[in-house]
Amino acid sequence: RRRMPQQPSSRDAFASTLGAFAATVGSAVGLGNIWKFPFLTGSNGGAAFVLTYLLAVALVGVPVMAVEHAIGRRMRLNAVQAYARVVPRQPFWSLIGWGGLLAAVLIMAFYTDVAGWVFAYVLKSALAAAGGSPLTPDTFGRLASGTFEPLFWQVVVLVVTTGIIAAGVSKGIEKVTKTLMPLLFALLLVCDVRALTLPGASAGVSYLFRPDLTKITGTVLLSALGLAFFKLSLGMGTMTTYGSYIPDETKLAPNAIRVALADTLVSILAGLAIFPAVFAFGGQPAGGPGLLFNTIPLVFSKMPGGSLFTVVFFVLAAIATIGAMVSLIEVPVAFLVERGHLSRPAAAVATGLAMFALGTLATLSQSPVLEGVKPFGKSFFDLFDFLSSNVLLPVGGLAIAVVGGWLMKRAEFLGELDKGYAAEPWYDRAIYASIRYLAPGLILLILLNSLGVIRL
Ligand code: PHE
Repeated sequence: RRRMPQQPSSRDAFASTLGAFAATVGSAVGLGNIWKFPFLTGSNGGAAFVLTYLLAVALVGVPVMAVEHAIGRRMRLNAVQAYARVVPRQPFWSLIGWGGLLAAVLIMAFYTDVAGWVFAYVLKSALAAAGGSPLTPDTFGRLASGTFEPLFWQVVVLVVTTGIIAAGVSKGIEKVTKTLMPLLFALLLVCDVRALTLPGASAGVSYLFRPDLTKITGTVLLSALGLAFFKLSLGMGTMTTYGSYIPDETKLAPNAIRVALADTLVSILAGLAIFPAVFAFGGQPAGGPGLLFNTIPLVFSKMPGGSLFTVVFFVLAAIATIGAMVSLIEVPVAFLVERGHLSRPAAAVATGLAMFALGTLATLSQSPVLEGVKPFGKSFFDLFDFLSSNVLLPVGGLAIAVVGGWLMKRAEFLGELDKGYAAEPWYDRAIYASIRYLAPGLILLILLNSLGVIRL
């Protein structure tokens, strides 16, 4: 048996199982639920997409999260070094970690753009509530296609996030997520009650839950798989890094299942707040990235005290983005601290600057400055999103499943997954079967299908 590293006392970590759960949910829950899930559902035909997505979460997402946590906790290292060492004498696998660093920067490039819109909407909705001009689709159009305004907000977002990261793992990440997640949940429920009691709301509900199976195409499959990875922060080392902070007594499989359930619930609640309203007001479900920004103010304006609720909603959305961004930045930061021996604040600033550099490309891709620039036929914004969610994360997830399912010994993997159990529970065996066969098989099929190599 190899001797595995103990958590060095100088290494920061989550203080408890509850803290680990909160931070992990905090990473998973974010723009993915309130922005991306609704708009992808809208542009991929509704319930058929939702169904495919749920299957991807259960069959691929949960098992891959469990492996990432197990590998991270076993190695007690940042993602690059963890994968470099988990398979003895095969440093090749550190590519998973390097790909993860790249994905983190690419995702943050467009994520901070959207988060910036959310932050801007906090201010704009507050001004509207105080009697200023109301929020209209035009408000969003001008913001998204602006130059200085969205860049300004992107900087604000990055400064806030880097600040939390600099504060550390237990005092920064864990503390912030533990207080804010329950609040987000409560507010979403309020929005749901409002949206679901609108006349004509049922059309939105069936749009989400009555699948038309003929709508499942290759694109739908890839988008659903990509969303599952993006949503659960998988395939790029975020969950590996977080795994390295999880206490030994935490049971990793039940934790992963709980995280996936909580996260999925938030997505469904967000969908239920948005689609009934879209249908009730005769809007377009395929509204694209602007869906959230155009619908929520509209829905809320129809109810008493609505302008105030709009403010609260965007405050909470802003909060949700923070837990996710913190976890994205943490991947390079952990690496720079442990491998590059930088201080945490210095690593956070360096990472923030790199993210801002690429981020300006995403943000300006909708402004006149870069409007016509379309590498590979996509705007920088769409390109970064596509490359990360639909390429890097699934490929990373595939490689991670291979490491956990084929290159680590079964006893080594399962021993970490449920440290301290006397017998293997059924879900451990199910997770092992999935990472060995089902998850890699499905990912491979979907990727080959989208490349046109095979036809599903
Ligand atoms: N899961 C986050 C969200 O849905 C995004 C994210 C992706 C965070 C990858 C970390 C890593 O908003």
